[in-house]
Amino acid sequence: MKNHEQAADTEKAIHTDFRNSMTYGEYLHLDKILEGQVRLSDHHDEMLFIIIHQVSELWMKLILHELESSIAAVVKEDLPTAFKQLARVSKTQSQIIQAWDVLSTLTPSEYMEFREKLGQASGFQSYQYRLIEFALGYKTPHVLKIYEKDQELHARLAKAYREPGLYDAAIQALAKAGLSINQDVLSRDYSNPYQKDDSVQAAWLTVYRHTDRYWNLYQLAEKLVDIEDWLQQWRFRHMKTVERIIGFKQGTGGSSGVNYLRKVLDQRFFPELWDLRTEI
Ligand code: HEM
Repeated sequence: MKNHEQAADTEKAIHTDFRNSMTYGEYLHLDKILEGQVRLSDHHDEMLFIIIHQVSELWMKLILHELESSIAAVVKEDLPTAFKQLARVSKTQSQIIQAWDVLSTLTPSEYMEFREKLGQASGFQSYQYRLIEFALGYKTPHVLKIYEKDQELHARLAKAYREPGLYDAAIQALAKAGLSINQDVLSRDYSNPYQKDDSVQAAWLTVYRHTDRYWNLYQLAEKLVDIEDWLQQWRFRHMKTVERIIGFKQGTGGSSGVNYLRKVLDQRFFPELWDLRTEI
């Protein structure tokens, strides 16, 4: 078939009458999504700034969706389902990291053109980011205050803050497999940040030394390490991109800026899984 005949053939098959059926844009609510890029300045580069944040928040929504479901799967001892979902979390994290390459095309001079329009707004107030941290077991109570003006959102965060995270579910799975875990870890208050524990370290070491016997737990551990690894890479790229754009200025959220972002790089989610690498 010649090219123009092929094109005519495709055109014949294409649907164009949507009076009684749903279009692509309607299904995806593109009207709502695409009217949300509201610049507060007339500066050209503010569009990039808005879209990069929105895209990151959309990916975070998927990460949370997968994380919440994978925690439930680990609790139910359905590890194959959790593996599938956690692999998707890691792939999504690798996508969000690519966003820094795009954002680094924003120069300090361009950003300064509209920065004052942001007021005190900052990614620090990203509630989805906090929900991800909570799901990974990192709990910081002071961030809850930010959401007090929205009761529904505050209740959602407060609930996630009290619930066991992915690592708690993984530690329960170690105990269910017969590995010895201190009782005070198993019945810990989940609203506290997780504290490193010797029995957990010993249990993971057993898993890594007897991978044939504990193959599923070993796989689970490596999925968790993937997630922490990507999250730290995200944090590092954020910190460096911020340094590139604002140097050591204070953040719009009120922190010391890059120095604060450097400090959060020290926070660990699954400490024993990293420490055991020295022991093995
Ligand atoms: C020009 C671009 C950006 C600058 C200058 C910037 C700057 C900062 C600074 C200084 C902080 C520390 C809190 C503060 O004082 O504001 C922060 C936190 C944060 N930012 Fe950004 N940021 C940028 C882009 C982004 C993007 C694209 C995202 C993606 C959603 C993001 C997400 C976050 C998050 C989640 C935090 C909290 C980190 C934590 O507390 O561990 N930022 N940002």
